[in-house]
Amino acid sequence: MPKVTPELFRVLNDPKVEATLSRLYKAALKQGWSMVFHFLPKAFKMYGKGIDWKTENERFYDDKYTPILPYQGEFLYMQARALGAKNILEFGTSYGISTIYLGKAAKDNGGKVISTEYLPHKVKIARENIAEAGLSDYVQVLEGDAMETLKDLDVLWDFVLLDGWPDMVHPVFKLIEPNLKKGAVIAVDDIVGFQPSTKDYTDYVRNPENGYLSTTIYPKKAMEFTIKIK
Ligand SMILES: C[S@@+](CC[C@H](N)C(=O)[O-])C[C@H]1O[C@@H](n2cnc3c(N)ncnc32)[C@H](O)[C@@H]1O
Repeated sequence: MPKVTPELFRVLNDPKVEATLSRLYKAALKQGWSMVFHFLPKAFKMYGKGIDWKTENERFYDDKYTPILPYQGEFLYMQARALGAKNILEFGTSYGISTIYLGKAAKDNGGKVISTEYLPHKVKIARENIAEAGLSDYVQVLEGDAMETLKDLDVLWDFVLLDGWPDMVHPVFKLIEPNLKKGAVIAVDDIVGFQPSTKDYTDYVRNPENGYLSTTIYPKKAMEFTIKIK
């Protein structure tokens, strides 16, 4: 995770959002060493064939932010703006860092985010963080297992972030697939590192017969990315 500086959030152009994200990323950075010690013994596997999520101790993550990186947040925000996405879905709220990027896009697009998280203490704090960022009117956090909370939603999604645990990416995707608009963008975090658990998803969306274009992107190498908004 990079050092937290205002430049990371410049494109969002919103002091409240910037202040909240800065505070949250600083808190997430404090968990850096415990994450390093957790993953160090598995580093070869992680950067090789990947870890099967079922071998992970999920309880370790109960108090962890495990957020998307600021570059990813910036990229998702820009993508959602480029699409003019009004109906945005997120699987895996955690403490709300990615949700704030999506919420800001929803605010700027005149839309709404629905995000879901099953740990009640994370839901409570995520809602407070989203309120602090001034985005409560644009974000609804549903508490519970995504397979339940998302199953009866009558919304057509323009933009989706799947960032819950890797073994649930494909089941959650299949659940919401009937509600994807043509042209919808779906982003999945942690696709490298947990390949055994996300293979069902990548096999499915990379098969042209299923109607998607899909590839792994690394939005970190320098490229100016500009969207005309007025
Ligand atoms: C990687 S973290 C999400 C990080 C967050 N998107 C961010 O960037 O700040 C994954 C979160 O998904 C939640 N989660 C995992 N499986 C879930 C499920 N079946 N339903 C709802 N939430 C789930 C976990 O509790 C965890 O907080």
